[in-house]
Amino acid sequence: MKLLIDDADTTKIRRLWEYYPCDGVTTNPSILAKSGRKPYEVLLEIRSIIGAKADLHVQVLSRKSDDMVAEAHRIVETLGEATIVKIPATEEGLRAIRQLNAQGISVTATAIYTPMQAFLAGKAGADYAAPYVNRIDNLSGDGIQTAKEIHDMFQANGMKTQVLAASFKNARQVLELARHGIGGATVGTAVFEALLDNACVDHAVEAFMTDFEACHGTGKTMLDI
Ligand code: E4P
Repeated sequence: MKLLIDDADTTKIRRLWEYYPCDGVTTNPSILAKSGRKPYEVLLEIRSIIGAKADLHVQVLSRKSDDMVAEAHRIVETLGEATIVKIPATEEGLRAIRQLNAQGISVTATAIYTPMQAFLAGKAGADYAAPYVNRIDNLSGDGIQTAKEIHDMFQANGMKTQVLAASFKNARQVLELARHGIGGATVGTAVFEALLDNACVDHAVEAFMTDFEACHGTGKTMLDI
């Protein structure tokens, strides 16, 4: 399962990218707006942090499919070939996905709330389909189960489309989908840090150091003895 950062805060991205095994970054128009910066300026900075080959997902804003296609080309021309264009899985979006698939542009079908929406996006040629786990839960659905069902449906139909689950609120949700072997999860920075946050681990590591230093001296490591 790929692990992506769902954020446009370049300070946070830089830190996570350095310390964690990340596969890319996803954004959406709300996330870009939250950065308070010019969209292409922040996206180019993200590209420079993650390098030319890592996945960078960027969403179109156009309402009509022909305009979505034109916007997708501009996004990829500006941000490089490893850029995956996010297209909402609507009627206009499906038409755009079909065209972009024929033109060799990678697409994430986004704003997915139902397995049928994902199925249609897959049939249209999307590389990824992004079910919104937490938002589905908020509609009294089951976001994790929906993501798993979509994954199983793609496999059962021999489709190339991978699930890129989005909208997480806790680490357990991410773990459950990793266990199911979905294509990817994109996680906001707060949940990302929670993936590793465990006071017991910190305590265990600290105890090892204390025991070693008691024997060999403060600050000593295997380099010093
Ligand atoms: C992906 O980028 C989605 O747009 C995003 O994960 C939605 O997350 P939210 O429901 O927390 O806004």
